Formats: sequence, structure tokens, C-alpha cells
Amino acid sequence: MTDLNQGSPAPEKKPGPSLLADDPFAGAAPGKKPTLTTGGQRAFFSCWDVHAYYGESYIVQGVSFDIREGEIVALLGRNGAGKTSTLRTIARVDSPNLKHGEIWLDHKPLHSMRAHQASFNGIGLVPEDRRIIAGLTVEENLQLAQISPPVGWSIERIYDLFPRLGERRNQEGITLSGGEQQMLAISRALARDVKLLLLDEPYEGLAPVIVQEIERTLEQIKNLGMTTIIVEQNAIAALHLADRAIILDMGQVVFDGVSQEVLDNADLRQQYLAI
Ligand SMILES: Nc1ncnc2c1ncn2[C@@H]1O[C@H](COP(=O)(O)OP(=O)(O)OP(=O)(O)O)[C@@H](O)[C@H]1O
Ligand SMILES: [Mg+2]
Repeated sequence: MTDLNQGSPAPEKKPGPSLLADDPFAGAAPGKKPTLTTGGQRAFFSCWDVHAYYGESYIVQGVSFDIREGEIVALLGRNGAGKTSTLRTIARVDSPNLKHGEIWLDHKPLHSMRAHQASFNGIGLVPEDRRIIAGLTVEENLQLAQISPPVGWSIERIYDLFPRLGERRNQEGITLSGGEQQMLAISRALARDVKLLLLDEPYEGLAPVIVQEIERTLEQIKNLGMTTIIVEQNAIAALHLADRAIILDMGQVVFDGVSQEVLDNADLRQQYLAI
């Protein structure tokens, strides 16, 4: 039988003490603490025993994992497994509502922050719908991202990475092609000082040739050492890009290990990814 938890143990079912108000798990027995890397340092990013709800709907059910600086992690799972909800919880957007757990990025407690503070502290969420702002040119979309600190890449550096955006700098952002809009959405995150890039289905709805172009750019971003979580339905593409894979099922981590293990394990792919 396939061991689905080869990379690291499954998260503790029992939540630990809470730092959050309105925590339904407050007072429960302590759970497993975030893993310490060698040298006793907390991982660059860690989420520990994260539980999040949309209203009464219990969706993220005790998710725990660590990410090293510069690592790229593919967060995979079937439709409805909780991938987007996990990214949104990490980014501290209003819903789903984090009710229990800890989320740390570079020693900063994201669990006690709102979305704008998480952004200030280095979270760069590129949502599935891209959210290009109507009425603004490509360049104005980028300038808007830099209106408040911390500023990341210069706009010229972004145009070096995505020459097509440079060529279209004066074009209204929402008139770009789907692939170009995805490039703009990624660029908008890089225009801020991002420590953890969260990409939700960056290849969605794009022709294979455009997917390949964005893949090459993400390889370049990876080679620059950007710590990234990529959620993708195109799991094979994401696994080729990523060092590690985390698979979610029904809001829980069912696998955490190197990407190659998933590529090599047909049973695992069939069971949790249906590929
Ligand atoms: N705003 C919401 N209110 C209530 N339930 C929601 C909301 N958004 C998502 N859900 C539910 O949460 C569960 C997880 O959804 P989520 O979008 O995180 O899944 P996903 O893994 O990203 O799926 P997909 O691959 O289809 O994008 C689903 O059952 C979904 O119906
Ligand atoms: Mg999703």
C-alpha cells in the first residue's frame, strides 16, 4: 500500500493553544509545533494547525507545513480540496476566517495581521481572476502597486522580465490578452517587496504556448530565489517547476514531499489528483 505521508508526518488532529479571538479550539490539547530547521531557527515560512471557515463552513481543517527560503512548493489537490482557501488564509484576506493556528513569515506573525499588513510584510497574492484594474494602463497598474512601501522590483526591471508588458506599457491593462494579463498580475506582486509569492492557477485558461512562456518566466523568478507557492490544476507543469509538493484533500494535508515522488507515484496521483 502506498504511504501517502512519506515526506513528513500528517498534521496533528488536536489543535493547540490559540492566539486568536473566537477560536472554537481554544483550550484543546496542544498540537504539534512548527518544525524547527537545523540550527534551531523557525522555517522561513510556516503555517501550523491552521483552521479556517467561510461563515459556518469549516474548510481549512488543520493545515501545517513549512517552506524554506527560496523553495518553490506546488500546492495540489482536486477541485474543492481547499487550495485557494489556504492561499487566502495565508494572505489574511477577510474570508475565509482564520479561527485557529499560527502563520509565520520571516519571523512575523501573519496570523495576527489583516491583509494589508500581510502584504506590507511580504505576502504577494496573485489571485486566479488576476484583478487587473480597469481604466488604468499597464504602467499605471504597476505604479499603483508601488504607491505605498515596501516597493520591490523597479518597473524597468519588470519590463526586462516581461518585454511584452514593456511594449504595451500604455495599453489599458484589461485589454491585454489572457497571458499578458497573467504576466501583469505576477508583475504587480513583484513590484512590491515580496517574500512569499502565492500564485493561484497562473496557467488557467491559457493556450499551451503561453503557458510555456509563463513557465519560463517562473523558472527565472525561481532562479532568483523567490519563495513561492503555486496552486495549479495543471499539476504536471507545477510539479516540474516546484521542488516540493503538498497535496490537500478535504482541507487537510495528505502528502508533503519532493515533487519527483508525486511524478513517480501513479497511485498517489490517481487517488488525489485524478491524473
Ligand atoms: N466564499 C465561500 N463560501 C463558502 N464556501 C466556499 C467559499 N469559497 C469556497 N468555498 C468552499 O470551500 C471549499 C474549498 O474551496 P477552494 O476554492 O479552496 O478549493 P480549491 O482547492 O481551490 O478548488 P479549485 O481547484 O476548484 O479551485 C469548496 O467546498 C468550496 O465550495
Ligand atoms: Mg481554487
